[in-house]
Amino acid sequence: MTGAVIVYGRSSDHSAKSAVDFTTSVGSLDLIAPILTASGCAASGRELDNYFDITAIGGVVTKSIMLAPRSGRATPRMAETPSGMLNSIGLQGPGVESFIENDLAWLQQRGVKTIVSIAGGSAEEFGKVAAKLRVAGGFDAIEVNISCPNVEDRGQVFACRADTAAQIVQVVRRNSDNRIPIFAKLSPDVTDIVEIASSVAQAGATGVSVINTLLGMVIDTNSMRPALAGVTGGLSGPAIRPVAVRCIWQIRNALPDLPIIGMGGVRTGHDALEMVLAGANAVSVGTTIFNDPSAPMRIQDELEHELRSRGFTKFSQAVSYAHREVDRTLQIDTPTDAADHTDEVWDFISE
Ligand SMILES: Cc1cc2nc3c(=O)[nH]c(=O)nc-3n(C[C@H](O)[C@H](O)[C@H](O)COP(=O)(O)O)c2cc1C
Repeated sequence: MTGAVIVYGRSSDHSAKSAVDFTTSVGSLDLIAPILTASGCAASGRELDNYFDITAIGGVVTKSIMLAPRSGRATPRMAETPSGMLNSIGLQGPGVESFIENDLAWLQQRGVKTIVSIAGGSAEEFGKVAAKLRVAGGFDAIEVNISCPNVEDRGQVFACRADTAAQIVQVVRRNSDNRIPIFAKLSPDVTDIVEIASSVAQAGATGVSVINTLLGMVIDTNSMRPALAGVTGGLSGPAIRPVAVRCIWQIRNALPDLPIIGMGGVRTGHDALEMVLAGANAVSVGTTIFNDPSAPMRIQDELEHELRSRGFTKFSQAVSYAHREVDRTLQIDTPTDAADHTDEVWDFISE
């Protein structure tokens, strides 16, 4: 880290300070660094740009945008939980046209790598949002938030069934420029996340974003009623990190070549490293931004340190590293033997 810099990322040359090659490719999406903002936790990144140079992280994943403006769910929409947060914002937003005119224009002018998150209540709505974005251009990828209720099918969440998840990805693919990478954002609230990942990949997704929030609920013991007006909400923050790591691991294990953007409870570079070792090609940072707006830049700097201290010279060397075959006969009780560990890193890299 650069010692004198207090506001993160305001030093003039970011690439020069890093001893680790931080570039990463998530399918056809090339990033200068692996940390992104998670959808819904940093709007379009404009406010965060007051705290650090937003162009110095991998990119911004915008709040999910729908066709028309929406005011979201009734309040209260947030509740604290141990090591987490429950929200039922309900995809509040200005609608795709206003988004293109204001947020996308700002992101483009600022030179931010932009992943636009889109949502809808029907396949038709997803298609219309994608088509409007195709005409506008000026972004780098689409994240398809399929964790929305399907208004045409009893409110069933698209991401919870392989066929509906695939249908939405197909429609978005059909209505988007062929060169634009598409990431399907998966819900952990399923029996077999690998089945959903396979089906969206077959439907044309470049990769997957894993994970969205888990469905949760809090009862207010004073009012003795649900704490959220929407009754249930999405659980995020450190409480869900082991679930996220498990989902990333399972998908990487089954689909070794599928690009993965990992997220869920990342607060430090150490947390981000865990996701990378499990198989994430990039990591999004969400809830922690609410109490530390400079978190994405700080986490990126911490990750660089975590990688360097383990002998990695390139970020890509660490991706999926936890999946390597380990020769059990070499596991002697010398946990501080750094030289042995570095050799192991190089064996894996040269495979
Ligand atoms: C307040 C809030 C709003 C969110 N809005 C969206 C959204 O619009 N679209 C989406 O795909 N995910 C949304 N998410 C989910 C996050 O992008 C992320 O997947 C999840 O919170 C797990 O990461 P975290 O624990 O780092 O926050 C939201 C999360 C929170 C806490």
